[in-house]
Amino acid sequence: MDQQINILGFAGSLRKESYNRALLRAAIEVVPDGAKLEVFELDGIPPFNQDLEVSMPEKVKEFKRKIKAADAILIVTPEANYSIPGVLKNAMDWASRPYGDNSFEAKPVAIMSASTGMLGGARAQYQLRQTFVFLNMYPINRPEVFVTFAAQKFDDKGKLLDQKTKELIGELLKNLVSWTRRLKST
Ligand SMILES: Cc1cc2nc3c(=O)[nH]c(=O)nc-3n(C[C@H](O)[C@H](O)[C@H](O)COP(=O)(O)O)c2cc1C
Repeated sequence: MDQQINILGFAGSLRKESYNRALLRAAIEVVPDGAKLEVFELDGIPPFNQDLEVSMPEKVKEFKRKIKAADAILIVTPEANYSIPGVLKNAMDWASRPYGDNSFEAKPVAIMSASTGMLGGARAQYQLRQTFVFLNMYPINRPEVFVTFAAQKFDDKGKLLDQKTKELIGELLKNLVSWTRRLKST
């Protein structure tokens, strides 16, 4: 039997009713057999300060530990001013440090995004892909999960209503798991 693939997921929004956090919760329901998705909340990660790199805040240490222990990463990003939100970039900057101890090194990764606008966070996703180059992560390309007009796709409890989106998330996770297995076998 194949070994279980452990995915760590985090969303770049701290908002209680965040569509991106809701999208990450929806992903838990469609995790393929043989895989597990754990959610890490970014709340409490302080602004990056290189002076603290040698003795990092506890929450950052925990984040780095969980990333390293995971077989694959799932990032769910909002779009802020055509880019990824500071909350997400800040957390990723911490986890990439100190120099020589990049927790994301060689990790397979998948992205989803939700925005209230008509492009569903597409611009943020492509910016995130640039960051993966320096972090030496291995992103999967398809399917691209852009949740457009997010306010219409969730109910008032944050449950994803859109069937097509659920199917896409399932396909994304399936591809992430098989990509991860392929990388592990090389
Ligand atoms: C500072 C800020 C900038 C934003 N910029 C964009 C943007 O560039 N593109 C976009 O589609 N939505 C933009 N939005 C709208 C977000 O898509 C919307 O607020 C979304 O709900 C944020 O994600 P969340 O629900 O997970 O918190 C912006 C929102 C804020 C607060």
